[in-house]
Order: sequence, then structure tokens, then C-alpha cells
Amino acid sequence: MTETTIANGSTAPRSAPLGNAIAIASGKGGVGKTWLSISLAQALTQAGERVLLFDGDLGLANVDIQLGLTPAIDLGTAIEREWPLSRAVTPSGAGFSVIAGRSGSGGLAHLPAHRLAALIDGLRQVATGYDRVILDLGAGIDRPVRQLASLCATVVVVANDEPTTLTDAYALIKMLKADGAPGRVGIAVNSAQDVAQGRQTFETLAKACRSFLKFDPALLGIIRRDTKVKDAIRAQTPLLTRHPAAIAAADVEALASLIAAETREVPPRQTSLGT
Ligand SMILES: Nc1ncnc2c1ncn2[C@@H]1O[C@H](COP(=O)(O)OP(=O)(O)O)[C@@H](O)[C@H]1O
Ligand SMILES: [Mg+2]
Repeated sequence: MTETTIANGSTAPRSAPLGNAIAIASGKGGVGKTWLSISLAQALTQAGERVLLFDGDLGLANVDIQLGLTPAIDLGTAIEREWPLSRAVTPSGAGFSVIAGRSGSGGLAHLPAHRLAALIDGLRQVATGYDRVILDLGAGIDRPVRQLASLCATVVVVANDEPTTLTDAYALIKMLKADGAPGRVGIAVNSAQDVAQGRQTFETLAKACRSFLKFDPALLGIIRRDTKVKDAIRAQTPLLTRHPAAIAAADVEALASLIAAETREVPPRQTSLGT
């Protein structure tokens, strides 16, 4: 199968994206997607939204680990038994709901196409019960990542200042554009030394997007490096619960406010999130 047929066939969106869904994506692993997904879910919850966090890292699921949860039913069980995804919804303990993956198993990494399609249909159904659905995606540009990203009206590409992270983030954005992914793609810089360095990281990536993809991405947020992030992950407690006054918590709250304002009040084509 050629790249063109992939782009026009299996990864193409089956229908309109979910207006209330946000994908948290990155080319490279370890940039803070899971931590950011959890923190964003909590910040939007605190802003009054009903939020579902879906562990879409089908190969290396670990939302449950970072939250210290042991769900009775996880995504793997729901898929195997062909149950509605709603049966796998678990309270996070921080006010939002979670559909956990199966940590450590890697068992969902190679879902056959029909199972992935069923999963996406299931997500569409379960999403109707929430104001917001956040998808913590796996790293890379494999089919599940691309199809799940195509389901979301907003894709937040997380990057930091490491050269390999930047090149992988660029590769992901290029792939999303080649796929014709319908969501607005914006960039969040994580683990920035300070705001100026975060802006510089964003500009490096944005410049490549403008030059080679003719795409002008929006800067959605800069989240500063903060030792309290590691402490919260070690304690398996969300940052906004454990360290509500942390610098990184304030930065995530700013990202949440921007996303909430942009996606609620302004018609999508006029937002600064990019197209
Ligand atoms: N803003 C930040 N400040 C400090 N450390 C961070 C920050 N964001 C992420 N980290 C660190 O990065 C590690 C990887 O985060 P994780 O959410 O598991 O990444 P991913 O899901 O992208 O693989 C975490 O264990 C944490 O220690
Ligand atoms: Mg992760």
C-alpha cells in the first residue's frame, strides 16, 4: 500500500471530528503527554466541565499508573468482550472520568483495523456524555495515532527543546496535514526553562511548518519545567491536587483557559488555533 492510499484510505476520517475532543500528541515519547493530559483534564474539570480522559496510548498505556488507579474494567477488557466503552469508565478521584488502557501489556498496540474502527465508534458514543474528551495518544505516527488524532477537533502537539523531539513533532504535523486530519493543530511547549526559551522552541518548530508545510501553527501554551511534576507523578497524585500552586499547574491552567475559550465561544474558523 502506498502512502497516498494510506492517506486517502484507512487513516481518513470516517466522518466529522468530535467537536469536544482534544488529542494530546507528540512525535517522540517521554515529552509529558500523559502528565499533561491528566493535568489538562483536571484543570478543565475545575473550570466546570464534565471531562473524560481516554488512554489512547494503546501500546504503553499508563494514565492509570500516574493516577494510582486500579480500574475494575479497562479498555482491553471492553474491546475483548465487545462491551460498550461506557463500561470501562472509572472515576479518576480528581473529578473527571477515565477510560484506562492496560499498562505494561502492549496488547492493544496492534489492533486490527476493524477493532480500531469499532473503538472509534465507541468513543464517539461515549463522548456524547461529556463536555470534553481528552485523548492521551501514543508517540509516533502509526495508524492508531493518526486515526485517533483525526477524530479530534483539536490536536495539541507537545514538544520540548530537544532536537529529536522537534524533528519528530514536525514529522507528526506533516503526517496529520498529509492525512487531511480535520482538527486544528496547535503546539504546546513542555518542560521549558522559561517563557523566552519556550517561545524560541515554538518558533523553531513553527518556522519549519511555515517553510515546508505552508502551515502556520498556533502556540497554545508554554509549560515550564518544574520539579513538582516529578514529585506528583511519583506520588501517583495529579499535580493540581498535590501542588495546586506549582508553576507548571498555573501554566496548565492557562492552557486550559485558552482551549476552553477558543473552543466554546468562537466559531472554529476564526480561532487562533490555526487550521
Ligand atoms: N513540565 C515538566 N516539568 C518537569 N518534568 C516534566 C514536565 N513534564 C513532564 N515531565 C517529566 O517527563 C516524564 C515523562 O512524562 P510522561 O507524561 O510520561 O510523557 P509521555 O506520556 O509523553 O511519554 C515525567 O515522568 C516527568 O518526570
Ligand atoms: Mg504517555
